[in-house]
Amino acid sequence: MPTRVIAVANQKGGVGKTTTAVNLSACLASVGKRILLFDLDPQANATSGLGLEKTEGASAYHPLLGEGSLLDKIQKTNYTNLEIIPSEVDLCGVDVELARSENHLQRVKTILNPILETGRFDAVIIDCPPSLGILTLNAFAAAESLLVPLQCEYYALEGISMITRIVNQIRDSGVNPGLHIVGVVMTMFDGRTNLSHQVVHEVREHFGETVFETVIPRTTRLAEAPSFGKPIIDYDKYSAGAAAYEVLTQEFVERLKL
Ligand SMILES: Nc1ncnc2c1ncn2[C@@H]1O[C@H](COP(=O)(O)OP(=O)(O)OP(=O)(O)O)[C@@H](O)[C@H]1O
Ligand SMILES: [Mg+2]
Repeated sequence: MPTRVIAVANQKGGVGKTTTAVNLSACLASVGKRILLFDLDPQANATSGLGLEKTEGASAYHPLLGEGSLLDKIQKTNYTNLEIIPSEVDLCGVDVELARSENHLQRVKTILNPILETGRFDAVIIDCPPSLGILTLNAFAAAESLLVPLQCEYYALEGISMITRIVNQIRDSGVNPGLHIVGVVMTMFDGRTNLSHQVVHEVREHFGETVFETVIPRTTRLAEAPSFGKPIIDYDKYSAGAAAYEVLTQEFVERLKL
């Protein structure tokens, strides 16, 4: 089986991209999938969320600029089957530097290829920054599909039309003809508010089966876990948040035939 590449993306900030990337990766690893979490966000939240220090020179920065191999940037985590390419602040300068180089949208795809060829991983999960800048577009060019977290709030639908547009552009331009949204996951659902129910209803009407059945609840435990450097299934295995990400993972595995 070839290694699958999925980017977790939404240009909107704070919608649950990193929480989803970290917890989905950890849950996939816990059911035996060999996972590489690729932190492509200069904020490095996925890196610290898994308990890794932000270390100078540890990110994809140099490989992105053609210096050295991305394979050498892979690090182990505390979890079986889960490895990571960490991020650090230097990644925030890479946009500007890449803009000047040739094939600047294909850099992630190019440097990821040797890793895919090793067959070491069942899937690579890319955590994208909150923008549609060059790093995110690189992830779009490298991924087979996108997983889009949407926060259960009033403006949820607005941002996603922008992603849909960019996906179509990337597809039509030939950069990545197969790119599609494999799933929309509703996050920070608060069952006590009408708004949450309304938003989920609206998003389902609009996106139909693309929306995962599983809805991620808003819980304090999910918000706390990163400060302990742990995914929720380690931080509080029997919490509602852990259960939600476990069920989402099952759905994800089935949908992707992973
Ligand atoms: N289901 C949830 N319940 C409670 N808090 C959550 C939940 N999901 C995410 N959070 C919290 O909301 C904040 C934003 O989440 P997260 O970092 O995952 O979003 P993001 O889309 O990656 O943000 P950014 O755009 O800055 O990268 C974080 O503090 C996170 O801990
Ligand atoms: Mg994030």
